[in-house]
Amino acid sequence: MRLHSYGNQRTLRALLLVTLALTWIIIAGHIKPVLGLDGVTNIFKPLAQPAQEIKETSLLVLAVSAVIFAVVAGLLVYAIVRFRHRAGDEATEPPQVYGSNQIELAWTVLPILIVFVLILVTSRTIADIQNRKPPPGAVQATVVGHQWWWEIRYPELGIVTANELHVPASTGDKRQPTFLKLQSADVAHSFWVPQLAGKTDLIPNRENRMWIEPTKPGTYLGNCAEYCGTQHARMLIRVIVHTPEDFAEWAREQQQSALVVTNVADGRKVFFANSCVNCHTIRGTSAQGKFGPDLTHLMNRETLAAGVVPNTPDNLRLWVRDPQRIKVGCLMPNMQLTDKEVDQMVAYLQTLK
Ligand code: CUA
Repeated sequence: MRLHSYGNQRTLRALLLVTLALTWIIIAGHIKPVLGLDGVTNIFKPLAQPAQEIKETSLLVLAVSAVIFAVVAGLLVYAIVRFRHRAGDEATEPPQVYGSNQIELAWTVLPILIVFVLILVTSRTIADIQNRKPPPGAVQATVVGHQWWWEIRYPELGIVTANELHVPASTGDKRQPTFLKLQSADVAHSFWVPQLAGKTDLIPNRENRMWIEPTKPGTYLGNCAEYCGTQHARMLIRVIVHTPEDFAEWAREQQQSALVVTNVADGRKVFFANSCVNCHTIRGTSAQGKFGPDLTHLMNRETLAAGVVPNTPDNLRLWVRDPQRIKVGCLMPNMQLTDKEVDQMVAYLQTLK
């Protein structure tokens, strides 16, 4: 007697095709970032600790999984081909095997050993990374996730900035990792700069910690990796790694209060006459709002709106006129300024170097 009717097989084949097609559609749309072809999200091309250490552990886990997959899939294909249905098989039944101690021992003991090895290696990596103590000279920074931007504070240096985390490179004779405290002002976010480290969540009412130790100066891109609302996908972060000398120089500049430039008095008046001051701080002035990004050295930043657009005068003008057109749903309202006021305000903001 045939167990499967012809109709069942057809349904099965159709289902398989639909599944394959769906999988392909899903993969095709994301193939570049998923495979890391853009470099940035390629977890197999780490450029710093602890990402390197995580990669080594991942490779071991992947290799073990690949061997298991090859053995299981190989046996499966072998069984399907070797014992496929043949004409004339109807009368006989294949030999029934049960109660084999050898087989049962093999498939119990072997997986336990494999899992045990993976647990040991993984725990060693996790402990290595989590138990790292800040050496003297380590930079300490606090990153606070907001909908949808990153507040970055350096309590020991007296610096507050946003969206661009500046850190020194760790050089051979001067290990200078950066230790981060991660907090959230609203919902859960996740700090992820793939080339530097794994993801760590920023959770309300809780402080998480992580560290990074890049050795090569440059700009490293990352993004929020935990869905946090409408603009989650545009909550980008840049880590700018300097040589130790450049970092010291950057810190010195950031510690200064805002410059007072006399020929932008009109723009300053517009800024202080509107509710900008309720949300933004400009150190050295009466603007002490804490709700939005600190603007003291706004012009030092490469991008606006957490990496959404480059920080150019034109984009700044568009942003001040109506932030909602650049980043729908962001918490900065349209201040309904006139064209003239926008120009004056932008002229003022551009002095915040
Ligand atoms: Cu913040 Cu997603």
